[in-house]
Amino acid sequence: MPEIILKNIRKQFGDQFVAVDNLNMVIEDRSFITLLGPSGCGKTTTLRMIAGLETPTAGQIMIDGKIVFDAAKGINVSPDKRDVGFLFQNYALWPHMTVYKNIAFGLENLKWSKAQIEERVKELLKMLRIEEFAKRYPSELSGGQQQRVAIARTLAPNPKVLFMDEPLSNLDAKLRGEMRTELKRLHVDTNSTFVYVTHDQLEAMTLSTNVCLMENGKLQQFAPPLKIYTEPENVFVADFMGNPTINLVEAKAVQKEKRLAEVDFCGIKAKYISKEDLDLKDGKIILGIRPEHIAVNENQNGNATIYTTLPTGMETTLKLLIGDKMFSAIVFGSVDYETDQKVDINFLEEKILMFDPESKKRIAIGKLEI
Ligand SMILES: Nc1ncnc2c1ncn2[C@@H]1O[C@H](COP(=O)(O)OP(=O)(O)O)[C@@H](O)[C@H]1O
Ligand SMILES: [Mg+2]
Repeated sequence: MPEIILKNIRKQFGDQFVAVDNLNMVIEDRSFITLLGPSGCGKTTTLRMIAGLETPTAGQIMIDGKIVFDAAKGINVSPDKRDVGFLFQNYALWPHMTVYKNIAFGLENLKWSKAQIEERVKELLKMLRIEEFAKRYPSELSGGQQQRVAIARTLAPNPKVLFMDEPLSNLDAKLRGEMRTELKRLHVDTNSTFVYVTHDQLEAMTLSTNVCLMENGKLQQFAPPLKIYTEPENVFVADFMGNPTINLVEAKAVQKEKRLAEVDFCGIKAKYISKEDLDLKDGKIILGIRPEHIAVNENQNGNATIYTTLPTGMETTLKLLIGDKMFSAIVFGSVDYETDQKVDINFLEEKILMFDPESKKRIAIGKLEI
C-alpha cells in the first residue's frame, strides 16, 4: 500500500512567491525517497508540509490511507498525530542528559512502561553501535557519535515515516560516507519509510529507491536514481546528476531515416542511431554525453586534444578539447597523457542523449558513431 500521497501540493509565501508548485508524488511504503535539488528549490518546504510543520496553500496529503491535509476540506492533522519522526541538520541533543536518557526521554513522555523503555533503548544502542556511550553526555562524544544518538532518539518511538533534512551536512567527508552506509542499512533494519532531503546528487544516487528532483519549486523528475541518471527527462536533470557533469553540446542534426540522423558538432561529423523513431524538425539539437561514454585513444592525428589530466588513483578524469569546446572523459585506472597531446575519441554504448534546444526535453537515446 502506498504510504504517502501528495496531490497538487502548492506552497505560496506572501502574494507572489511560489516555493512549491503543483507537486504530485506517491511515496511507496518502506521506500527511501530523496528530495534533491539546488538550494532554495523547495525541498525543506516540501518535507515540512508532509510532516505538518508547514501548511500548504493548496492540495491534499494522505499518509497511510488517512487524509492528513486537505486545503479544500479544511483538514489539517497536527504533526504529532501524523506518526512521523524528524532528524534535522541541527540535531540538538539535550546536553544535561546522558545518551541513554536522551533516547529514553521521548518514550517517557509517551508514557511507555519502564521495562519497555529499557528494552527499546538497549535495542537502539545496539543497532546504532553506541552501547559503550550510554552513560556519557553529548559533550563527551564526537560529531558522528552525537549524530548516531540523534538518529536513535528519532527512531525510538518507531515512527512509520522518518524525515531527515540534510542530516549529514555538518559532518566531514569521511564520516558522511560512513553515515550514508549506516542510514542505508538502517532503512532496511527499521522497515520504515525514509524521506530524505539533500542537495548532494551522490547522496541521492547512493541512498534512495526514488529521487524527487526539483528546481524552482517544480518537480523535474521522480524516478529511481539509475533511471534519472540514464534516462533524464530534460537537460536540467541530466546536468544535475553525475560528477563529472554530463557533456552538453549543441549540434546540427539532419534526419536521414526513421532512426538515423547525421549530427555535426565541434567539427565532428557522426551518425546518431536512435533506439526509437526520431521526429527532428529543425536543424538543431543538444547532445548529452556522459564522461564515461567517451573512449580515448592515443593518435597523433586525433580529433581531440588533451587539456589536462586529473588522476584520482581509481580513475582518471580527462579534460579534452574538441574544436574549442571542453569535454570531460573518465577512464578507469591511472593514465597520464601529456598536455596538448592529440588523441582520438569515440563514443561508447547506446546511451547518448538527445535534447530539444527549445523545450530542453529529452527526445532520444541512442548511439553515436564517428
Ligand atoms: N517562511 C518563509 N517565508 C518566505 N519565503 C520562504 C519561507 N521559507 C522558505 N522560503 C523560500 O522558499 C524557497 C524554498 O525554500 P526551501 O524549501 O527552504 O528550499 P531548500 O530546502 O530546497 O533549500 C526559498 O526561496 C526560500 O527563500
Ligand atoms: Mg533546505
